[in-house]
Formats: sequence, C-alpha cells, structure tokens
Amino acid sequence: MTHADTEKRLCGQAPHDPPQVAITLHVNGIVHTLQVDARVTLLDALRDHLGLTGAKKGCDQGACGACTVLVDGKRVVACLGLAAQYQEREITTIEGLSVDGRLHPMQAAFVKHDAFQCGYCTPGQIMSAVCLIEEGRAETEEDICEFMSGNICRCGAYPNIRAAIREVKEES
Ligand code: FES
Ligand code: FES
Repeated sequence: MTHADTEKRLCGQAPHDPPQVAITLHVNGIVHTLQVDARVTLLDALRDHLGLTGAKKGCDQGACGACTVLVDGKRVVACLGLAAQYQEREITTIEGLSVDGRLHPMQAAFVKHDAFQCGYCTPGQIMSAVCLIEEGRAETEEDICEFMSGNICRCGAYPNIRAAIREVKEES
C-alpha cells in the first residue's frame, strides 16, 4: 500500500485506482486503441503505452521542445496535452518520418551536417524543422532562429541545425 493510500484510509477514504478511459490514437498511419489513465499526456501515451520513444521528455513543461510531434501537420509539444484530446487527429512522430526505410530529407540533412551531439533534442528539432519549412518560416537565417527558438539544444548544435534546415529549404 502506498503512502497516499495509507493517508486516505486514515481519512476514512477508500483507496482507488485513477480513472481509466478508452482512447483511440492515430499514430504514423496506425490506429491504436488504448486503456489509459484519463490524465495521461500525449507524450506519455506515445512513449509508455505505444513504445514510441523517439519523442523525448526534457522539461515536461512545454519549454524545451524535445517532445515535439506533428498533429494534423502542425507542431505540438506532446507533454502539454492529454492524450484523450488528440483522438481522431493524425499524429506523426519521428518514427513515422522515414518512408520505406529511407530517411526523410531533414533526417538526412541532420546527419550530413552533424547537427547533434548527445542527440536528446534531435527528434524534436527535426519534427519542428520539417514543420518550419511547411509553414514557410525558413526564408532567412533570422527566421530559422526565431521560429526554431522553442527547441532547445543544450549541446549548442544550433549552427549545424540551421545549416541542415537551410539545405532542405534550398532543395525543396
Ligand atoms: Fe515537452 Fe520539454 S518535454 S516541451
Ligand atoms: Fe544534445 Fe541537442 S544534441 S541537446
């Protein structure tokens, strides 16, 4: 029995499990039906329930961008929303970017430009960068700096990240 359960018994409350809900998530083209704690975040649902550990948990507060995924083609920090809010939406994680085993051009550019050191921020950087170009916000170096500012790289790989984005932008 947990400390919290003991406290509830002492207060006359029966311990109980957190409420569970059945949710359906569309991730990388596959439909998943899950039974989860109603409070589970999209990030935890992806990582802990679907085994998609590409999206990383950095701050868990919406401040670092490590957990960035695409929802209906828009970038979203997966740590800030409840999984139940994203039912019937098309979710894409870093695992869903490559096609037939071929890296997405942004993934290939990150490798080519050595745009990482530890790699922890990299999936979020790549998802954000893919969307940045779709948004038409990669026109200048300043734009790239500004509109990638939600993705923190503690290793300071920013110049190489920007070089990768510029190359994909020029070739698109
Ligand atoms: Fe989601 Fe940092 S883990 S923004
Ligand atoms: Fe280490 Fe970005 S490569 S945090």
